[in-house]
Amino acid sequence: MKCRQCDQKASIHMRQHKLALCKEHYLEWIPEQTARFIKKYGMFTPNEKILVAVSGGKDSLSLWDILVRLGYQADGLYLGLGIDAGINYSHESQRLAQKFADENNLKLHVVDVEKEYGHSIPALSEISHRGHGRPCAVCGLAKRHEMNRIARDFGYDVLATGHNLDDEAAVLFGNTLKWSSEYILRQSPVLPSADGLARKVKPLCRFYEREMTAYAIMRGIEYIYDECPFADGSQSIFYKEALNQLETARSGAKLIFYLSFLEAKKSGHLFVEKNVGQSQLHSCPTCGQPTSTPDFCSFCRMIQKAAETPDQ
Ligand code: AMP
Ligand code: FES
Ligand code: ZN
Ligand code: ZN
Repeated sequence: MKCRQCDQKASIHMRQHKLALCKEHYLEWIPEQTARFIKKYGMFTPNEKILVAVSGGKDSLSLWDILVRLGYQADGLYLGLGIDAGINYSHESQRLAQKFADENNLKLHVVDVEKEYGHSIPALSEISHRGHGRPCAVCGLAKRHEMNRIARDFGYDVLATGHNLDDEAAVLFGNTLKWSSEYILRQSPVLPSADGLARKVKPLCRFYEREMTAYAIMRGIEYIYDECPFADGSQSIFYKEALNQLETARSGAKLIFYLSFLEAKKSGHLFVEKNVGQSQLHSCPTCGQPTSTPDFCSFCRMIQKAAETPDQ
């Protein structure tokens, strides 16, 4: 298969976009698309200071790379969580985040949760769960808290994370299975700043995980391949696998699921039930049943119209 933009052999074929590109054009396409999403969702302007949360994984390192290439002022934040699990996970991810920063002359804030608060994430989890359950909930809480804190203390306007389409679709899928309307309505590529917290943005939310892996590899970014060792067997991995099955049967399914959600939310068509229930209903003067149409209800109007129509 050939690249759509030149005669070279394509390096990636994105079936859902019906688009194949060579390495050179793919490395241009991803930042161009990111710039388009930043504009479309009003994420930030070139004058704003951005803090990128970098985990040492492919998504957040690629995000940092892309934002800097696009000319944005973006510093990094690495959070040391103290997760070892036999593979030195935190140590290795920090090394790679630091390596990327050094090689590209970028500023990286490093915050070690254990140094800051006296306990690593697994230890905090042990304490709060008394040894039961995964540390993921404690970890998520601590990460959110520390990202907010550093963004505020250093005066960043925006906090950017590397969540990709697979992440976002899995969260949406999980919340939809439970019809958690509050969480569903809150999910967005941009959360406006509120109560002294920086605005939160996810510029990669429309890229498939596979596209970000391809970008990191083609760009030569060295990243940690391992997922967090505690993610194994988690709900979010289960939802991702389910969505991958849908995607295999219908390419584009994941993207359609997520984009249709954003569209429905934007047009106000999501969870309008409450409004319908509360909208001004009145009783139909003929039958007394509640109706939202002016005067008579639709049924009575139909019967009236039929009565007015002469027999044929
Ligand atoms: P995760 O919650 O692991 O799926 O990661 C989602 C996003 O959170 C990543 O793309 C990063 O932007 C950010 N993140 C995760 N872990 C860290 C970390 N240890 N330090 C800084 N940012 C992180
Ligand atoms: Fe926090 Fe896995 S428990 S990254
Ligand atoms: Zn090409
Ligand atoms: Zn707090």
